[in-house]
Amino acid sequence: MNINDVIPRNLGMNPNSRVHPGKVWPRPEGATHVKEFHIYRYDPDSGQPPRLDTYFVDLDKCGPMVLDALIKIKNEIDSTLTFRRSCREGVCGSCAMNMHGTNWLACTRAIRDIPGAVEIYPLNSMPVIKDLVPDQTHAFAQYESIEPWLKTSTPPPDRERLQSPAERARLDGYYECILCFCCTGGCPSWWWNGDRFMGPAVLLQAYRALVDSRDEASGERLDYLQDPFKLYRCHTILNCTRTCPKGLNPGHAIAELKKLMVEREH
Ligand code: SF4
Ligand code: SF4
Ligand code: FES
Repeated sequence: MNINDVIPRNLGMNPNSRVHPGKVWPRPEGATHVKEFHIYRYDPDSGQPPRLDTYFVDLDKCGPMVLDALIKIKNEIDSTLTFRRSCREGVCGSCAMNMHGTNWLACTRAIRDIPGAVEIYPLNSMPVIKDLVPDQTHAFAQYESIEPWLKTSTPPPDRERLQSPAERARLDGYYECILCFCCTGGCPSWWWNGDRFMGPAVLLQAYRALVDSRDEASGERLDYLQDPFKLYRCHTILNCTRTCPKGLNPGHAIAELKKLMVEREH
């Protein structure tokens, strides 16, 4: 069997192309505190296979985070390097990528915590648009499919729909999700069945709506997830929880979702 026949459709990189050694960019002259970065470069439109370029960054003239180094490389060494970022504070989720083998946010990953050369790849298991920019169209379509807004059937009250402190506290650990998709990109079940399995980020969001006291659509939300793939392809491997840069526990949210499914059947 050809290995390309069993590579999932969304593993990310072109299945016919291996990552080749790339360009080695010059070391900064006179620098004494230099860090080496190996960065994945790929432009699907070029017809060229992916490559790993090597850059050297003077840490005495660079901020402490991996995102600082990427910005410095783009500004001062190689303006063609492409990556997403926005807030630089760990709240927008744009800079999610794979660093030293782990999905995380580049703006909250300290360079000093990574031993040796820093290996940087795009978030795994998504098609690559260019370099470190993954195509998240499918992940966001899955998010849209769970209708991630509060739904009500009772008449609108004269004022806001209030929550008690205890009801509000039930959202803790879920409302903080920034939809970076580090967890989904790191989930083996999503690598293989991402076309039908919703993945940990979307399932955490589904649970967040279900536990919100203001939402009145629990039945239809659970009906939507009652499917052999959408929810039940989670095998509780918990890669998702290990790789969440916000310290959330999508694996627990999925377990709670499965409990809600069982409870409504009894
Ligand atoms: S616990 Fe479930 S969602 Fe999380 S990584 Fe494992 S299979 Fe994926
Ligand atoms: S649960 Fe964590 S890793 Fe997953 S999308 Fe939300 S913030 Fe990112
Ligand atoms: S730039 Fe917004 S989370 Fe990193």
